[in-house]
Amino acid sequence: RHGSFTDADAAIAFLRTLPPPWVVKTDGLAAGKGVLVTEVLAEAEDDVRAKLSGSSFGSAGERVVIEEGLTGPELSLLVVCDGTRAVPLAPAQDFKRIGDGGTGPNTGGMGAYSPVPIAGSDVVEVVMDRAVEPTLAALRAEGIDYRGVLYAGLMLTPDGPKVIEYNVRFGDPEAQVVLPRLTSDLAALLAEAAAGEITSSPTFTEDAAVTVVMATEGYPGTPRTGDVIEGIEAADARAGVTVFAAGVAEDDAGRLVTAGGRVLAVTGTGPTLADARRSAYEAVGDIGWPGEQHRTDIAAAAAAHPG
Ligand code: GLY
Repeated sequence: RHGSFTDADAAIAFLRTLPPPWVVKTDGLAAGKGVLVTEVLAEAEDDVRAKLSGSSFGSAGERVVIEEGLTGPELSLLVVCDGTRAVPLAPAQDFKRIGDGGTGPNTGGMGAYSPVPIAGSDVVEVVMDRAVEPTLAALRAEGIDYRGVLYAGLMLTPDGPKVIEYNVRFGDPEAQVVLPRLTSDLAALLAEAAAGEITSSPTFTEDAAVTVVMATEGYPGTPRTGDVIEGIEAADARAGVTVFAAGVAEDDAGRLVTAGGRVLAVTGTGPTLADARRSAYEAVGDIGWPGEQHRTDIAAAAAAHPG
């Protein structure tokens, strides 16, 4: 449930009809500071007044959006669409915060794993029926022939899966665990989607994949760049390991150096999430540069309680 308001009293009256947690957003760009999520109603009310006073965010503070706060684990489902049909890829779970235990600021994603034990085919079916298919129908009704990847960012709430966001691309780092598990032909599937006629069904290995993102000092703020990265070859040579490069450049001497916040995604695969996780972290241990940071708890809970 959500509502959009320019009047503080109306916004607060709506807030009071919702259960906690409360979400108050500015309707505009606010340098990442436009969202409050709180369990304290008085704090949400003060935030509505501050945002609508016009003093905090300029024109981005003229309207607020109040949303029902959702609780539960996150899930990413990447779906390939051909304009009329949609086929889901294997679900993945991303880790959004910079710090272990989900602490610190949000990032583009610090790691991911697949399969997700709590997201079986029943969950995928609900998401396809209740979210993806109606979304594609709505796009068609607006004359949009959408062919490509639709990425549903979901939360598995006590009331069932709910969509937080859609992206129209693959997810990062979700792709680095979903695609290594794909046993059918990705190029053929994408060609079918582009041609508007998906006939194949993607298939996946039972093996698990875990990816750990290695980031630079300062990320997600201002990253420090230009440090020489050691150990990629050794890590990549390990069985079942792939090192994906993101924020990487070559210096004048031909060495690989850091060139962005998120530098590498190191994926390990194995028969179980625990095996894949061990393999990913062993490979991470081969690699380093000054100030490198990564989370140590990617897929830890799922690997410890796989079913
Ligand atoms: N993993 C988050 C994203 O790709 O947006």
